[in-house]
Formats: sequence, C-alpha cells, structure tokens
Amino acid sequence: MVNQTLVLKVDPENPDPEAIERAAAIILEGRLVAFPTETVYGLGANALDADAVAGIFRAKERPAYDPVIVHLSDPRQLPLVVAHIPEIAWELAAQLWPGPLTLVLERGSRIPAIVTSGGTTVAVRVPAHPVARALVECAGVPIAAPSANRFGQVSPTRAEHVLADLGGRIDLVLDGGPSAVGLESTVLSLVDSVPTILRPGGVSREVLEQLLGRVEVQRRVLSGDEPLTSPGTTEKHYAPKAELILYSGRRETVLTAMREAVQRYLAAGERVGVLLAEEDLAAFAGLQVCSQLLGSLDSLAQIAQQLYASLRALDEQGVTVILTRDFGECGLGLAIRDRLTRAAAGRVVKVSEQSLNS
Ligand code: TXA
Ligand code: MG
Repeated sequence: MVNQTLVLKVDPENPDPEAIERAAAIILEGRLVAFPTETVYGLGANALDADAVAGIFRAKERPAYDPVIVHLSDPRQLPLVVAHIPEIAWELAAQLWPGPLTLVLERGSRIPAIVTSGGTTVAVRVPAHPVARALVECAGVPIAAPSANRFGQVSPTRAEHVLADLGGRIDLVLDGGPSAVGLESTVLSLVDSVPTILRPGGVSREVLEQLLGRVEVQRRVLSGDEPLTSPGTTEKHYAPKAELILYSGRRETVLTAMREAVQRYLAAGERVGVLLAEEDLAAFAGLQVCSQLLGSLDSLAQIAQQLYASLRALDEQGVTVILTRDFGECGLGLAIRDRLTRAAAGRVVKVSEQSLNS
C-alpha cells in the first residue's frame, strides 16, 4: 500500500504533457492513478494487467463481484477489448463517443477476468475529458477505472473528494477541477435482445431512444424500488453518512410535506440538511436548516453537476438527516432519481394530496 498520494494540477482543457507522461508511467508500472473524467473522477489501472486491477479493488475496498469499466481513447480500439462488435455499437460510438455512455459487450480474450468479475461481458467507454483521453492515449493501454471513491460512498466530482476517500492508498491524483456532468455514465447493455439501460447516467434515455428506437430501462430504476442485485448495480448506496430521505410527488405538495417533516426532525433534536433547487428554498424560510442549493429548476444539468458535491458538503456540516426531493424522470432526472433512491436506501416518501395533514 502507498503512503503518500501525489497531487498534480493539470489544465483540464490542455493538460501538461509532462504530467500526463508521469501518470502514464505509473499506470504502466501497474500502479494506480485517479484522473478526472467528464462524469466523475476515475481510479485507473492498466486494464490488461490483472494484478494492477486487483489494486483498484483493494484501494476502494470494492467487492470482487462488481466489475469495472474499461476506458479507451478512441472507438477504433474496441476490437482490443471486445470479442464481437454489433453494428449498433459502432453507430452509438460514432454518435455519442467520446461521452458519458458505457456499452456492455462481449468480453475480448485479452481482458483479464478480474475486470469483468469473471463475467462474459465487458463494460467500455471513451471518455470526453481531455485529461482522461490524453492519459489513455499516452499509456497506450486500455485503462480500467471505477469511480475513485471508497466502495459505497458518493462518487467524487473533484480531486479533494478523491483525496478524502483514497488519500494514502493510491499513487497519484491528476487534479483537473470539477467534473462537468457530475453523475456517472449511462451503462447500456447491448448483449440483451433489446438494448437495456442498466444504470441511467449522463446520456439520457430519450437520446438513446432517438438513435435506437426501443430501449428498455431496468425495472427498478423506473420504479425506484429496492437496489438491484444484478451486475452493474451492486454499488447500492452512493450514500452520504447522514440518513437521506427522498420525497416524491407534485412539487408544491412535496415541499409542504418536507417543511412539516423538517419541523418534526428539528423538534426531535436532529441537525437537518435540505438539498434543493433554488426555487424551492422559500418553502423552508425561518427554519434552522443547512441548505445546499443544487441550481435552478431550469437546468437539470446543473442540478446533476452539483449533486455529489452537495451531499459531501452536508456531511461535512455534520447534519444527521438530509431531506431532498425527486426531480422527475425526463432527461437527467432519471439518473438523479436513481442516485437519490440509492442514497435513500428505501427511505422514499411518496406524497399524495390526501396524506397531507393526516
Ligand atoms: O462515469 C463513469 O462510468 C465512471 C467514470 C470513471 O468512467 N465510472 C464508474 O465506474 O462509474 P463504477 O465502477 O463506479 O461503475 C461502473 C458500473 C458498476 O455499477 C458496474 O457494476 C457496472 O458499471 N459494470 C461494469 N462492468 C459491467 C458488465 N460487464 N456488465 C454490467 N455492468 C457492468
Ligand atoms: Mg462507482
């Protein structure tokens, strides 16, 4: 295990080649580098080196049954890691790579079993972030990288988050500032008869439907039920330390219910945090709450981008309970709902008009 983690600041648009070469050299030595992507920070290792990938699982304390994503710098490298590439994969690659889309395809023979948790499929993507692409290109090998957080924690969208979780456990963090998307990539399986979203993320269902026609969404994601047990979903909680409660229903009704709940929690002596859109704040006027504003309702992209940093900020303020609300299922709303549902670990309050004042 490493004792000291080096942090190198890099220009996110135009990374210093020396920093990238240094990071690539560490990867080729079989060691670990955290790097920014447009979604969240990844914890990278040489995907062709089983021992190096084992280091990722150790550093994250990630169970071996949860497979990791392989990052390429160019779609043309797909044949290196995938056994059979359907036409549709090339089309998606042409339209949406580089970008926040991960494709699940048949595993190629060069990919060690540890990457796929022994499974016959491999998850692969070409990230859009210039630092991530430069690193993969310079290393000259595909890079296996899950999110750079301890297993079960909220994914990191800044270098400071990586250090808080993995400082002392990894060799290097490339600090390229905050991640622009702020939520992980969409994981789309192309090995089922109908393309299936295993994890909603940075590319919306609507965009995929425009390109593919029919797209399935794993049922739990839509219904917001219990966390899934199939691969792709085992990182169940994305959880802050405080207990998070998710309210869903019509906005005005939900805000009224949340205000009442805040008053009850305060009366019970809890330290209460609320995670809200700017437009929601007025509903909590006069209450002693720690509020984290995610951005305006006009921009789900902004809400998504701020989500993980805000959850971490509330934990730092020492709140014991966090109340937040659902932002619908259009566009990025589905991915936001998915992460909040997991963070709530079953504490979802569906507010109907009747349940108020009862
Ligand atoms: O945006 C992202 O995808 C980030 C950045 C770093 O690229 N990575 C990321 O990795 O979120 P991770 O490991 O935290 O999440 C990857 C998800 C996991 O839920 C994993 O179970 C799933 O993808 N996955 C990986 N390989 C799979 C496979 N062969 N079949 C189904 N799901 C898979
Ligand atoms: Mg993760």
